[in-house]
Amino acid sequence: MQPEKNTLTEWHGIDVVYQPDVIARRVRELGEEITEYYDTEELLLLGTLKGSFMFMADLVRSISRAHLLEFIVAASYGKGVTSSGHVRLLYDPQAVFEGKHVLLIEDIVDSGATLNRLVRLLRTRDPLSLEICTLLHKHVAPNLMLEPRFVGFDAPADFLIGYGLDFAEQYRHLPFIGSLQEVDG
Ligand code: IMP
Ligand code: MG
Repeated sequence: MQPEKNTLTEWHGIDVVYQPDVIARRVRELGEEITEYYDTEELLLLGTLKGSFMFMADLVRSISRAHLLEFIVAASYGKGVTSSGHVRLLYDPQAVFEGKHVLLIEDIVDSGATLNRLVRLLRTRDPLSLEICTLLHKHVAPNLMLEPRFVGFDAPADFLIGYGLDFAEQYRHLPFIGSLQEVDG
């Protein structure tokens, strides 16, 4: 199902990569994998805002095991399509990570700079365990400190938007994931 394209002219120059039904099916599977993997109630899902807000909302509804939910805000891109490499932490929850199995929820892993920064930080807080779940993995990061245990899709190395992912804060609301094409004029 693809929503009416002509209702929003801003969609021009976008190739659909993952349709909403494909995303929904895979997210459900991930929720089931996570439910099965953790044999504990001391589970904390830590979503990275803003990119993972939609993924997180769908994912938690497919996890049939008690867990806590938190968000952390890291920013690395600014207005461009390439990572600045400099990751700023804009919001850091005061939730106690000690005695919790922490599952970091990412929208997409590109250069790996954001993940490495977060992994380094979270490890200083002594969680019982730390794993990563990412919806999309571009597999271009040269040195990831921790490989994601749960991966939704092995993504193309394009610039992707929609389903939470933005380009200069636009397109997050799109129900599909698309690749942003260069448009002439
Ligand atoms: P990294 O630090 O380069 O791995 O990038 C991680 C963050 O940058 C992600 O959490 C996204 O917010 C953003 N990002 C990376 N690649 C893309 C993309 O293709 N589209 C939109 N945002 C992206
Ligand atoms: Mg972003």
